[in-house]
Amino acid sequence: MRQSRLERPPGRPGRGNAYLRYVAPFLPPGSEATVGGSTAEGGEGGLWRYGDKEEPIVGDKISIRSARPDDVETICRFGAAHIPDHYRPLIGNEAAQAQVDRWWNANRITQAVDGGQVTVAESDDQLVGVAERGQLGPSHVVWKLYLHPDHRGKGLGPEMLRHLIDQLPADAGALQVEVFEANRRADEFYEREGFRYVRTEPHPVNPAMNIVWRELKLDRG
Ligand SMILES: CC(C)(COP(=O)(O)OP(=O)(O)OC[C@H]1O[C@@H](n2cnc3c(N)ncnc32)[C@H](O)[C@@H]1OP(=O)(O)O)[C@@H](O)C(=O)NCCC(=O)NCCS
Repeated sequence: MRQSRLERPPGRPGRGNAYLRYVAPFLPPGSEATVGGSTAEGGEGGLWRYGDKEEPIVGDKISIRSARPDDVETICRFGAAHIPDHYRPLIGNEAAQAQVDRWWNANRITQAVDGGQVTVAESDDQLVGVAERGQLGPSHVVWKLYLHPDHRGKGLGPEMLRHLIDQLPADAGALQVEVFEANRRADEFYEREGFRYVRTEPHPVNPAMNIVWRELKLDRG
């Protein structure tokens, strides 16, 4: 199993996998410093890069930030473009479309953005990832974490999770996540990132939509 990227500082390469790091032109090459809560390495650049190679992948200048009110329309479009394609083979067409209608409409997204609960990733000013957190009773929960298909499998998901965690109140001791049982790759991803299995809530009609709950204990030292 691969190492969780959340457990090590950003900027440390994974096993033969792509990773995200900040290359800071104002630091001497070979040195390291903390910039905006992340580890930056010295060198030419001044941008988020991912890839194992020293050379940046052309066009992959990634920035991660909290969403602003003027992002709402783009976030809704992102949901409409990618959510049905992702869920159709897992839970069926109708249920996949219902996910967009229910969770990616302008009212819902506006509320979450206004609450400071949404993180976005951009590549060359294009939206390539959306994450949303919220609360269920006293528990903090990841409600969304979705990347553009071209940006999956390169270590961006853990960086977005890290940004969500950084926004949590200081006394938050845990972060939960819910995943459809059919979304096995996502479930494996959360397991690898340290989210322990809690319980499965059965769906009354479609077992693919049983909800798997996991929890990450936060030691924010
Ligand atoms: C799940 C997701 C956020 C992970 O972010 P990421 O940056 O791709 O994750 P990493 O690069 O650290 O690791 C890749 C791992 O993510 C998981 N993963 C889940 N869905 C994946 C996908 N569609 N493509 C690639 N990897 C995926 C796999 O476990 C993969 O590991 P593997 O290559 O050994 O199978 C991202 O892949 C994604 O957006 N997937 C589709 C949407 C989704 O299922 N979101 C979760 C909803 S709760």
